[in-house]
Amino acid sequence: MTDYPLRLRLAKTRALTPRIKALTLQAADGSTLPLFTPGSHLRFPLSLADGRQIERAYSLVHAGNAPDCYEIAVQLEPEGLGGSRAMHELAIGQELASSLPQNEFALAADADRHVLIAGGIGVTPILSMARYLAAKDLSFEVHYVARTPELTAYRDEVEAFTTAKLVFDEGDPARGLDLATIFAAHGPKTHFYLCGPQKMIGAAVKIFAQLDRPQSCLHYELFAGSVERSGDAAFDIVLQQDGRRFTVHPGTTILDVLIEAGIDPIYDCRRGECGICAVQVCAGTPDHRDVTLSEREKAGGKVICTCISRAKSAELVLDI
Ligand code: FES
Repeated sequence: MTDYPLRLRLAKTRALTPRIKALTLQAADGSTLPLFTPGSHLRFPLSLADGRQIERAYSLVHAGNAPDCYEIAVQLEPEGLGGSRAMHELAIGQELASSLPQNEFALAADADRHVLIAGGIGVTPILSMARYLAAKDLSFEVHYVARTPELTAYRDEVEAFTTAKLVFDEGDPARGLDLATIFAAHGPKTHFYLCGPQKMIGAAVKIFAQLDRPQSCLHYELFAGSVERSGDAAFDIVLQQDGRRFTVHPGTTILDVLIEAGIDPIYDCRRGECGICAVQVCAGTPDHRDVTLSEREKAGGKVICTCISRAKSAELVLDI
């Protein structure tokens, strides 16, 4: 099986905000689509204008019970490499390849209550979870922060949940969600799920780490646009053990390059969340984009998450 076994066709689009478009996708051959669980995403291989190939992941918005179509929402990232633009420019009827639905952000089966927290376009998996929990009559609440009411994707859908609270911060994080208060308001069997920008997830991880509660009750997912930057430049990595040198181009990661070189690195989330891919840095300056290393580790510059972080220097020497 290839990485992208599904053949989908764009059936319909809908503007959710000036920058966010919902895309409805159906099987190109009209067949039934594979079922998925809330929190799942699809991965799409995309070709950029300059010929480069990249992959982007988008969460599914339905609760997992609509096998005749999938819905995703794509936020145009003017500062990005062009992946979101490629998705926005798809024409109705155009076909595209996709992975099967994958879920690395699943609801916990043993939770008493689920607290769903979304920042911006991070609402997509959160909405999927909320729809599922509402349909199953399970205990949950939603906290959703966006810049303004007009820039809030799926506002009506979220407001339809009686336990939803929306906050508009006008771009000022100080007016955003009070995560410490949200965490403190719940018992030890509550699970928390966050999807949003890197700063929000980083703050949540930091606050939660100081609480006397099982760390396994915090689940989070970054969205891709939050870590990709248009100013990303190529840099070299040098393997300390045998001196081999490779170039990491924008749109690829150190981890991608190591895998392609046949090095067999260990990794898991590929989103800077688990820390499993971290390696020691012998020389050079990392550009940290993960949410798992501590502030001290990041400032020390001696370790890097290869799945997401890049380099501020032209070269990084890695202890591999
Ligand atoms: S694989 Fe999880 S942080 Fe890199």
